[in-house]
Amino acid sequence: MFSQNQETHQTGYELDEQNIPHHIAIIMDGNGRWAQARHLPRVAGHQQGMETVKKVTIAASDLGVKVLSLYAFSTENWKRPTKEVKFLMDLPIRFFNKFVPDLVKHNVRVTVMGDISKLPDKTQAAVQDAIADTAECTGMVLNFALNYGGRDEIVRATRELAQKVATGELAAEDITEDAVAAHMMTAPLSPDDDPELLIRTSGEERLSNFMLWQIAYSEFVFMNEHWPDFDGESLKKAISIFQHRHRRFGGLK
Ligand code: IPE
Ligand code: IPE
Ligand code: MG
Repeated sequence: MFSQNQETHQTGYELDEQNIPHHIAIIMDGNGRWAQARHLPRVAGHQQGMETVKKVTIAASDLGVKVLSLYAFSTENWKRPTKEVKFLMDLPIRFFNKFVPDLVKHNVRVTVMGDISKLPDKTQAAVQDAIADTAECTGMVLNFALNYGGRDEIVRATRELAQKVATGELAAEDITEDAVAAHMMTAPLSPDDDPELLIRTSGEERLSNFMLWQIAYSEFVFMNEHWPDFDGESLKKAISIFQHRHRRFGGLK
């Protein structure tokens, strides 16, 4: 139904450079299964997945993508074993320590969405440093979803809007789609808040609470590769599939 029948082993995808999605969102899935298939501990998959993040970031930036949103830790991922959660919390520290100079070199600016106040202090510090160190970059935005949940985001936005109505700052009838969007965690990405293309790796075909508001008209591309096996070519393949879709937005074409 989605990408499966179009997945070939073709390489060298011819992309229409005029039709590169401005905002690509990726649910990076399959790290654990990648590791288990190699008789390695699950965290080895997360480690390898970090290398994929580097490769895909550079590839997306080179293709002229404006925003790359990566789902790194969901509000539900706290349910995992303590050891795995700890590893995932340490990963941004190692990632940014090593990779910030490359990000700056590629003019990539780091942003984060999600409640990072619940992350360990060291992780928060690494994230804040990366944001500060890349603040002047004017190229692609690399937007990490960390302790992010789409429902949590909607609840927070609703609460903020309700407070504004309660204090008289906002009239109930002024709660428009634009007003709601302005209270979403993606508001700073405007005008590219909504991803045109959403990719999920590892063959799972669900959203797992990612960007529920923003994906109203996104094209979904589900790919069988586990995240550690994903690379720049896989990204091109997903974009190529996107470019062959007919987007109608409820109208006729
Ligand atoms: C994605 O890989 C990374 C995170 C959710 C943090 P998984 O860890 O979910 O890998 P699988 O799905 O168990 O294979
Ligand atoms: C979604 O993957 C979260 C991230 C990729 C960070 P999960 O592996 O947590 O999702 P489920 O549990 O399979 O739905
Ligand atoms: Mg998973």
